[in-house]
Amino acid sequence: MKVLESIGMKALHSIDPEAAHGWALRALQLGLAPAPGKLTSSRLKTNLAGISLPNPVGLAAGFDKNSTVLNGLSRAGFGFYEVGAATPHPQPGNPKPRLFRLTEDQAAINRFGFNNDGMDAIAARLSDRPKQAVIGLNLGANKDSEDRAADFAKVLACCGQHLDFATVNVSSPNTEKLRDLQGKSALTALLTGVLDVRNGLETRIPVFLKIAPDLSQSELAEIAEVAFDTGIDGIITTNTTLSRDGLASAHRDEAGGLSGKPLFSSSTKVLARMSQLTDGKIPLIGVGGISTAEDAFAKICAGASAVQLYTALVYGGLSMVQDIVQGLDALLERDGFKNVADAVGSKREEWL
Ligand code: FNR
Repeated sequence: MKVLESIGMKALHSIDPEAAHGWALRALQLGLAPAPGKLTSSRLKTNLAGISLPNPVGLAAGFDKNSTVLNGLSRAGFGFYEVGAATPHPQPGNPKPRLFRLTEDQAAINRFGFNNDGMDAIAARLSDRPKQAVIGLNLGANKDSEDRAADFAKVLACCGQHLDFATVNVSSPNTEKLRDLQGKSALTALLTGVLDVRNGLETRIPVFLKIAPDLSQSELAEIAEVAFDTGIDGIITTNTTLSRDGLASAHRDEAGGLSGKPLFSSSTKVLARMSQLTDGKIPLIGVGGISTAEDAFAKICAGASAVQLYTALVYGGLSMVQDIVQGLDALLERDGFKNVADAVGSKREEWL
């Protein structure tokens, strides 16, 4: 971490986590964040469901929920950026406090509940997005919606023309009963509706499904079937967990989804299992607890074609993106892989 960033991070950690996030976003808007620009090499360049990425390390959903800092953010060195979640109507989310740092565990618990400015405001900002970056949107549903499944399609219809990819997020633990949409028939209907909208867009963009880490083996097998039946373009494994195993921090019993280091192992197991169930035929994006190049490399070797991270930034700052991307390049070279695709799934068995 750079000296100035380190001073900034100390200051941010002395205030309320949600307020600190607001300041981090302001620093990005003012151009005060690390900006290494495009990080790439012949080994790092890769293809994710038809999208060319300069490197396979992406920013996970939830960091820039309202798409307000894309200009600054898109110079941070990530290979791709997921903004949102966006819902059809603006909504305030759950009462504060709703974000907790678990410093001893290098983790966070959030129960935001899809607070966002709504799809119209977000579409207007996306229409002015930096064109050189790869940007996708996390689609969500309103808490009070009478037809939550239809909400995902509505948001895509509104924002799709400005996107490089979209993610159906039925795995947030913070909207009651949302995760029920991961069941086979509900999920098939929901994805069919979203893919119909996608097929009507001027440019075909890939649609990913983001799943929870807390699914049983039979639920995972059903999701793999649905993925093949509907023809979705990829699966993001995973969202935050409801598990609280092995935590030391004072906030460990707060309600919400746990992210960061303690999620690494369980989310990587789900990733490897999904890779096995889909026989490597559907691109997977590995998320959960990545904070080093070794972690990113491990997810790729477990079956991920690309990875994403968020919580580690709370502890390591944005300068860690460059360390992770360059470190990943060195690890691919060390182990004799020509490129990312060459390494995907090479150590899957170790996680099964
Ligand atoms: C998230 N995450 C998330 N995921 C999603 O699909 N839609 C969302 O709106 C959010 N919002 C959100 C807010 C906050 C504060 C956090 C910490 C996380 C989940 C996130 O994208 C990711 O899947 C998990 O956090 C696991 O990755 P990390 O954080 O361990 O790298």
